[in-house]
Amino acid sequence: MDATPRIPRHIAIVMDGNGRWAQRRHRPRSFGHRQGQKAVRAAVEFCRRRSIPSLTLFAFSSENWKRPDEEVGALMQLFLRALDREVDELHAHGVRIAFVGDLRPFAPELVSRMHAAMARTSGNSALRLNIAMNYGGRWDITQAAVAIAQAAARGELDPATLDEAGFARHLCLADQPPVDLFIRTGGETRISNFLLWQIAYAELYFTDTLWPDIDANALDAALADYAGRERRYGATSAQVRAVG
Ligand code: IPE
Ligand code: IPE
Ligand code: MG
Repeated sequence: MDATPRIPRHIAIVMDGNGRWAQRRHRPRSFGHRQGQKAVRAAVEFCRRRSIPSLTLFAFSSENWKRPDEEVGALMQLFLRALDREVDELHAHGVRIAFVGDLRPFAPELVSRMHAAMARTSGNSALRLNIAMNYGGRWDITQAAVAIAQAAARGELDPATLDEAGFARHLCLADQPPVDLFIRTGGETRISNFLLWQIAYAELYFTDTLWPDIDANALDAALADYAGRERRYGATSAQVRAVG
């Protein structure tokens, strides 16, 4: 039953609080996004050192296009620069990068860099780093439903035999271990349309720390909290303890 895994196999993080971090310093919100990159590096390094095989980061939601043009533009520039700067080192450390989400609305130069980074690192296995870009949990479930309906229309799939596992194969991150630990920084206690299906039995951890202030100590606190949880998956505590 995997009742008390001490170390999560898959961590998903809503990296929230960049804007407030900058505003507290009387700087533009984009300054907070730039600073947030350091926390991304810290989180990647943390997972490598702790032998956590999968890390999924929410970088840009399907709703974040609503932000002022100036902020969206600054984020796009930041993504471009980050891809140019960070991929060498991630590759050198054996990190496999995957972008998840609907990538079609992004500028072609950004999309081609994302595909290049995925192709270049596809043989790596030290850490799987999934970066959610223009991702929405509802979009993910909808695109899976569309793919399944299309397969059924082609006669390749009998809808009557579709079960949860068969549905999940069409979702993003289907080839990853289940999300064990869901972290949101920045004080809000909501999911904001990040992973929905995939966090059905994740342990949720919320911290007031703003994303740019996240470091190994903050992540260790999340792991310590996680290690104290009892994952019952619907069973009783006595049953879980009997299984060990
Ligand atoms: C998260 O930080 C980064 C993105 C959504 C891209 P925010 O920009 O949402 O920061 P706050 O929540 O306004 O402080
Ligand atoms: C969620 O944060 C999206 C990312 C961190 C990329 P938001 O700041 O967009 O979420 P809301 O608007 O507070 O729900
Ligand atoms: Mg926010």
